[in-house]
Amino acid sequence: MGEANGHLLFFPYPLQGHINPMMQLSKRLSKLGLTVSLLIASNTHREPYTSDDYSITVHTIHDGFLPHEHPLTKIKDPLRFNVSTTRSLTDFISREKLKSNPPKALIYDPFMPFALDVAKELDLYVVAYSTQPWLASLVYYHINEGTYDVPDDRHENPTLASFPAFPLLSQNDLPSFAREKGSYPLLFELVVNQFSNLWRADLILCNTFDQLEPKVVKWMSDQWLVKNIGPMVPSKFLDNRLPEDKDYDLGDFKTEPDESVLRWLASKPAKSVVYVAFGTLAALSEKQMKETAMAIRQTGYNFLWSVRDSERSKLPSGFVEEALEKDYGLVAKWVPQLEVLSHDSTGCFVTHCGWNSTLEALCLGVPLVGMPQWTDQPTNAKFIEDVWKIGVRVKAHEEGFVSKEEIARCIVEVMDGEKGKEMRKNVEKLKVLAREAISEGGTSDKNIDEFVALWT
Ligand code: UDX
Repeated sequence: MGEANGHLLFFPYPLQGHINPMMQLSKRLSKLGLTVSLLIASNTHREPYTSDDYSITVHTIHDGFLPHEHPLTKIKDPLRFNVSTTRSLTDFISREKLKSNPPKALIYDPFMPFALDVAKELDLYVVAYSTQPWLASLVYYHINEGTYDVPDDRHENPTLASFPAFPLLSQNDLPSFAREKGSYPLLFELVVNQFSNLWRADLILCNTFDQLEPKVVKWMSDQWLVKNIGPMVPSKFLDNRLPEDKDYDLGDFKTEPDESVLRWLASKPAKSVVYVAFGTLAALSEKQMKETAMAIRQTGYNFLWSVRDSERSKLPSGFVEEALEKDYGLVAKWVPQLEVLSHDSTGCFVTHCGWNSTLEALCLGVPLVGMPQWTDQPTNAKFIEDVWKIGVRVKAHEEGFVSKEEIARCIVEVMDGEKGKEMRKNVEKLKVLAREAISEGGTSDKNIDEFVALWT
């Protein structure tokens, strides 16, 4: 650990899946001697707090919404979010610049292009940090450039989409917002606008590693000053160079892992449990939730399913109770996912293919059953199945519904099939590459060191 030198501001898009990888990079930089302020745009003011374990201070800045408004309203009303947060960010940086050790750079999520304009205006070095993979971002880049036209009706354009450095993508492999015009207009703008002013960024970081997306990375690096610094997964599960870094929280505000989940897992034989989780946002329809439950039941494997409270009523009645009583399954509202994925008893991961979940699974060598829902997830699933060959993707009917027979078939294939064995070998290889990338002298580690050298 060095002396505190430069002061950097981190500004994640305020959703958990985006905050986590920002938080992880800020932990690493703070341990390399930099002072970090993490700014969270929020409708609820919290007093700033500084972590004991890291020189990171977390500040909230006002996002323009009232405390009683739902946190996701910001997605539905981006104008209010952008205008108010621009003002709060400008005020915050202007005040910090008058203090000792003023900030030198802003590391922002390109989902908020206005942050780049604010930081440039205030003479900071500006770093765009993409927490989604290049796989999806490259598609958005081409839409922004006008080199890919999103069809008005996806059924009218059944041809495969071709992008440089990519395998051909079917409509179902594209990020969901890029399939058909007007499907999610606000989110479409959010993801495509990332590239509206990106050329003004001094540097672009991404939570991936060179060896994972080599062709795409090469293509991106030819256009932009890009450094990959991932996978940004807590150190305990990778290189273990930051022994206190065991989860995505800061030391002082840790939510202790739910020991009952880990005790239950420990009571099961090696590789016997199917772990199921769909991240922090995705909501399956009630019909799909019930079908998934029946599929899991049908396979006969032990299972652990993370089901948020808001989703629990969609499960078939008696499902949770029967699994508990007969001791073959556990439904929990939140599980320590990294501990679960690294547990000996876990045999496969049924996932929505969110980028953090995907990286975590490959860092911990767990093969996947992909049930992508939207945004970057279908493209991640395409790479999981066809490029990295570390899992299988369920085939949906035209309207997106997946039958229990199909889900069960995929789970059995990964748990016990011949292809499953290959997937397990492949994911073990990626696990080694991921660890190498972030360990001393690895590609991501070198990129982090070069970045730190700018500020020391
Ligand atoms: C969102 C998008 O949906 C995703 O597609 C994008 O790539 C990132 O932003 P989210 O849906 O939450 O993220 O999924 P994911 O990226 O997988 O992140 C979920 C995080 O929550 C993971 O870090 C996972 O470890 C954690 N988690 C989830 C738990 O710790 N416990 C749980 O029970 C469930």
